[in-house]
Amino acid sequence: MQILDGTATAAHIKEQIKKDAEKMIAEGGKTPHLAVIMVGQNPASAAYVGAKVRTCKELGFNSTMLHFETDITEHHLLDQIHQLNNNDDVDGILVQLPLPEHISPDKVINSISPLKDVDGFHPITQGKMLLGQPTFLPATPYGILLMLEHYNINTDGMHCVVIGRSNIVGTPMSILLSRNGKPGNATVTLCHSRTRNLSDITITADLIVAAIGRPKFVTADMVREGAVVIDVGINRIDDASKKSGARLVGDVDFDNVAPLCSYITPVPKGVGPMTICGLMKNTLEAAKMHAYVN
Ligand code: GUN
Repeated sequence: MQILDGTATAAHIKEQIKKDAEKMIAEGGKTPHLAVIMVGQNPASAAYVGAKVRTCKELGFNSTMLHFETDITEHHLLDQIHQLNNNDDVDGILVQLPLPEHISPDKVINSISPLKDVDGFHPITQGKMLLGQPTFLPATPYGILLMLEHYNINTDGMHCVVIGRSNIVGTPMSILLSRNGKPGNATVTLCHSRTRNLSDITITADLIVAAIGRPKFVTADMVREGAVVIDVGINRIDDASKKSGARLVGDVDFDNVAPLCSYITPVPKGVGPMTICGLMKNTLEAAKMHAYVN
């Protein structure tokens, strides 16, 4: 069994991104600039946003962080996004989800210019991805593809089972694994909360992507010997032995599943750092594109 080390893989890819950005700037291109919007005080969102802004600094990118109180109106938020869309120095715009109840995430996502949609959530971006046209790929599935590529895991002809059908992970992941590409060319089954006899399906999988948001949901009896297991879950569970009283676990029962696997991602330090790599690669691409357009 080999651990798919997200931290080490991300470090390697970030080094490449940094060199690529330096080359672009040396040749007269612009410094990539990511604008990050956060609304409210969700501690998990604050941690993710902090990591994204820190990574920009690490790579020599510019970043703008806009943090609004929970009572910001939808109108005001849309106006802020409009200003960022029209700001030629800003290459990428990301609105951290979830948003407060009174703000429609669809309206917010739809208001981001597809040219700056580095999270890959806009309907135009997702439509292009579905059709196999060049576009920004959603950051988490993109990060997973980068990880598979880094470890030379060949998905050609594999049966991949994706558990979870969210717009930002499960659904795009199923499309990307099945399309004609590398990684890709897999036969994909997309499972979700209403899937019957889930373990009968997962036990036949060569590769499982667990993105269901339930702690330790994938257990050893669901996994075939030699399978690759990618765990997207980040769940906080009580743990009296920890100073904070809690710890992070994935959607996979790691201790019992890992001995069965050929490869497995840990939580933390698995998919999380790779998501940020996907986002930074998209931001660099956006800057290259804008240097050309402007
Ligand atoms: N909330 C959870 N994951 C993500 C993500 O990848 N991007 C944004 N914007 N919000 C999230």
